[in-house]
Amino acid sequence: MRIDVLSIFPSYFDGLALSLLGKAQSAGILDLSVRDLREWTFDRHRTVDDTPYGGGAGMVMKPEPWGLALDELASRPPAPPSTIIFPSPAGEVFTQATARELSTREHLIFGCGRYEGIDERVFEYASSVGEVRLISLGDYVLNGGEVATMAMIEAIGRLIPGVVGNPESLVEESHEDGLLEYPSYTKPSVWRERGVPDVLLSGNHGAIATWRREQQIERTRSRRPDLLSGDES
Ligand code: ADE
Repeated sequence: MRIDVLSIFPSYFDGLALSLLGKAQSAGILDLSVRDLREWTFDRHRTVDDTPYGGGAGMVMKPEPWGLALDELASRPPAPPSTIIFPSPAGEVFTQATARELSTREHLIFGCGRYEGIDERVFEYASSVGEVRLISLGDYVLNGGEVATMAMIEAIGRLIPGVVGNPESLVEESHEDGLLEYPSYTKPSVWRERGVPDVLLSGNHGAIATWRREQQIERTRSRRPDLLSGDES
């Protein structure tokens, strides 16, 4: 998979060179490129923002650098269209299902907005060169799209075949089957007077599987009842 990121703070993404995603890049499974949006500005101050038409607080990102950047980065036919993701608190909410869907794409472009947002015409134009998705990490406001993009790249990247060494560990996680993950324990069997549940020491694999399933359901019921009712909004 190829991922291009457009940001005015490219160094936010240095952390993606670490750990599993760093290895995936070295192994050629993931081709990640972070580009400074100011590369597509031509004035002395490398301006990317301006005051909003109609007035109001803050600044809006100018359309021209975005247009030129997308012209350079979006795939041309006959390649499948790029998926262009704009992180936004006004977008659809990102879930494990979104991550799964996006992990099948060949080319993702993340456009990280800052200030009060991006000129609306950029989204229209982007729809003419790719598939556009406005995606929110959740119902809260960040200072820009960078942190949301990092989270999405990590969630998507680890689902690309070969990125996580043991694919079974992907299946047993929270949200993969609509339930939260069961609790895990390791040695010592007693720590600060707290023991490990007896069933995990029993060697009875059937009983362990049943207990883990019950724990998943009970945790989900108490912490995230919305997941059980099918109402995740
Ligand atoms: N940019 C600002 N807030 C955001 C959020 N909650 N999700 C995605 N992008 C954002």
